[in-house]
Amino acid sequence: MAEIGGAFPGGFIWGAATSAYQIEGAVHEDGRGESIWDRFSHTPGRIVTGDTGDVACDHYHRYRDDVRLIRELDLDAYRFSVAWPRVLPDGRGPVNEAGLAFYDRLVDELLAAGIDPWITLYCWDLPQALEDQGGWTNRSTVDAFAEQVDAVTRRLGDRVRNYVTVNEPFIMAYLGYGVGVHAPGRRDMSAALATGHHALLAHGRALEVVQSNVRDGRAGITLSLAPAYPLKADREEDHEAARQEDVLVNRWFLDPLFGRGYPDDLARVVGGTMPEIRAGDLALIAGPGDFLGVNYYTPTYASADPVASDPLPHPDPNVERTALSWPVEPAALTDLLARVHRDYAPSSILIIENGAAFDGDRVVDGRVADPRRAAYFEGHLAAIRDAIVAGAPVTGYFAWSAMDNFEWAEGYAKRFGIIHVDYETQERTIKDSGRLLARVAATNRLP
Ligand code: FCB
Repeated sequence: MAEIGGAFPGGFIWGAATSAYQIEGAVHEDGRGESIWDRFSHTPGRIVTGDTGDVACDHYHRYRDDVRLIRELDLDAYRFSVAWPRVLPDGRGPVNEAGLAFYDRLVDELLAAGIDPWITLYCWDLPQALEDQGGWTNRSTVDAFAEQVDAVTRRLGDRVRNYVTVNEPFIMAYLGYGVGVHAPGRRDMSAALATGHHALLAHGRALEVVQSNVRDGRAGITLSLAPAYPLKADREEDHEAARQEDVLVNRWFLDPLFGRGYPDDLARVVGGTMPEIRAGDLALIAGPGDFLGVNYYTPTYASADPVASDPLPHPDPNVERTALSWPVEPAALTDLLARVHRDYAPSSILIIENGAAFDGDRVVDGRVADPRRAAYFEGHLAAIRDAIVAGAPVTGYFAWSAMDNFEWAEGYAKRFGIIHVDYETQERTIKDSGRLLARVAATNRLP
């Protein structure tokens, strides 16, 4: 139990996270194949700023310096993703030794610095060769993914115990295949439903592979979750809109992962047709793994008459908003954790991502003052502690992100890092928010 005075439970894991396409760069090096994000970011009009991940934070070459900075932040753990197209450039088939060797070096560097590596097995950079055969709408992509997980865990499983199977299946299905805002940019809700199902099968298969290849391995899925509230609490129609929003953003994945099958009205709410669900599928999917990962940024307020110009309406016109216009509401995270604990009862919950983009980060005399980001972290950590006191089994926290990076469709303009990156010089500077998290990690309590 958390104690009075802002302490977190003993053994609480403090970490920061990144993902491959967002930081690595070096997209043509050492035999890496093309991913759907290379294709997408090079397609004019897809990325708000016209940026690509070609160079990104050049982490592929600077990983040693980056590990040193993470060490300076006193964090226990660092979560990164393995780029599938580095390991299996065509999505399946022969393993690319040189690609795998990069992660081997990174893992050794982290371990030497006393930082526990956490590997995300899939963070959206599907090999383009697989997309050309239907991508995640094609059930055989699940088998290809199992090959990728096998290659990664055989090579790194002697040193890496912790794995996140699939990052945010909702975002990859809905934004990637449903509304086309993310790669591969398809706009087909039936494709989104198929992607969601295959992502869950991929998770189930990954759990099996980790279990057989990694001694004492621990693995779990991570979901983007958000409480869904009615925009107008006194309007019946908004309550129904909130219920549907909850099906869309939460229950689509929570229900099948906790053995309840898909919500009855999922296909109608999403607006497509369910894919074929074969005998054994729901059993394979039922189980988040050794922990449930929760990625939380902002709540949703649903209205029966949504306004297209404000995708994230909020009842408080003065609510603080991040640079992405996401309302800041830490109490919603306490609510979310209480709900997940009450309705689904996972044995362990990890906050796998939480953080905020704010404008105005400037390096002045080797320092970046980012008080709003620091306050965001403080508020959300306090909210997590409240949930722990109320009984939610939260066992760790990963800040998004270890460093400023390629924020998908937003390009480099939106900065989430606790380490600032100057994209001209690739110089790194720890932000004040990073120093705050370092203090929290070192003392296991809020200041
Ligand atoms: C999440 C993604 C992560 C990052 C944050 C801001 O949806 O998992 O890569 O972009 O949002």
